Amino acid sequence: KVLGGCRLSGEVKISGAKNAALPILAASLLTADNLVLHNVPRLSDIRTMNKLLAGLGAQVDSQDETVILNAKNLTTLEAPYDLVKTMRASILVLGPMLARYGEAKVSLPGGCAIGARPVDQHIKGLQAMGAEVYIEHGYVIAKGCLKGAHIVTDMVTVGGTENLMMAATLAEGKTVLENAAREPEVVDLANCLIAMGAKIKGAGTPVIEIEGVPSLHGAEYNILPDRIEAGSFLVAALMTQGDVTVTHVAPHTLDIVMDKLREAGGVIEFGDDWIRARIDRRPKAVNIRTVPHPGFPTDMQAQFMALNCIAEGTGRVTETIFENRFMHVPELQRLGANISVEGHTAVVTGVERLSGANLMATDLRASASLVMAALVASGTSVVDRIYHLDRGYDHMELKLSQLGAKIERIS
Ligand code: UD1
Repeated sequence: KVLGGCRLSGEVKISGAKNAALPILAASLLTADNLVLHNVPRLSDIRTMNKLLAGLGAQVDSQDETVILNAKNLTTLEAPYDLVKTMRASILVLGPMLARYGEAKVSLPGGCAIGARPVDQHIKGLQAMGAEVYIEHGYVIAKGCLKGAHIVTDMVTVGGTENLMMAATLAEGKTVLENAAREPEVVDLANCLIAMGAKIKGAGTPVIEIEGVPSLHGAEYNILPDRIEAGSFLVAALMTQGDVTVTHVAPHTLDIVMDKLREAGGVIEFGDDWIRARIDRRPKAVNIRTVPHPGFPTDMQAQFMALNCIAEGTGRVTETIFENRFMHVPELQRLGANISVEGHTAVVTGVERLSGANLMATDLRASASLVMAALVASGTSVVDRIYHLDRGYDHMELKLSQLGAKIERIS
């Protein structure tokens, strides 16, 4: 429940990156030793991954933001539908299990709210590495001893790159991944794997080379800060004409987001691990086109759309990664936003004021955009189904209250 009209100001500590933590948790399956992870965000998606790993027989000891994992004795190599259907990133256990045990059975994730999201590229890559992979009763079943291969994915896929990179660490010989995703979370996973003894070169570029090793060992690793959480608070700062500093961040993972915030009229400063965003007037609308990293991230699209809703002028928001990622549009319209959708582009003309309403969250980033729009809408808004928000934001309502928002979680 949000009472709009407050200006956000102050400092907020950003948590570890969900999208780096998820594959890194899955990487624990690659070794019989302990993997000790720090700065793991407290999110429901992380709890789901921990539950999945524990269900496979791994020991998972989670305390605050530290998780200690040990996958020495797995009891099953099957990731069941019940867990996978709640979180598509569960597919990330496929590559590691197959690489270490020579077999794996993982429920096929199916579609999700933002689009079809197939995993054909993960499968194609594992087949190229010599695995026999087929689909039976809704499960991906993979078997075989992996060998290094030259793999070119049809499109840039973050999860595909991560799954194949993990699988290749224990394959026999050298694997080259071309058209690889360059996201900072891919680099973070590679750095953790390297700390575990993997031989990986080129992570962060479109070509990653992995020289397989017979086994990986344990490691202690700090998860990268969450650039999407940080970006969301910075956008909220401009929307409320506020002054917010996000701390414990990696500023260079947010270069393009900072550029867009400047374009919107924000004064943006940053140091080694902080970014400050402020503005003392209404922001200006910006044009956005989502593309793979280092371009503008699809996970920030909904939040910038919310900014455009109350900005001066008109902004065009084009989504090129997911085919159905405008589900926040009808909800923003309920607040009085002026948005028209033409195919993959939403044309948003800013209005001077939004007015509070009851809203329904539809997916993770959409839910953040609704909360942010509610912060600037007059009167009270209630955002329902915030379990979507809890998947990817660590106590967002507490962090926003700290910055002066009038927001509370109601049951
Ligand atoms: C990851 C992120 C997600 C982000 C997305 C794009 C995690 C846990 N999630 O999702 O937050 O929005 O990257 O930056 O890191 N595709 C195929 N076949 C495949 C794989 C992907 O067609 O085998 C398509 C997808 O449907 C989508 C596009 O490729 O249209 C990009 O997907 P991908 O990069 O794989 O996204 P995820 O890894 O699922």
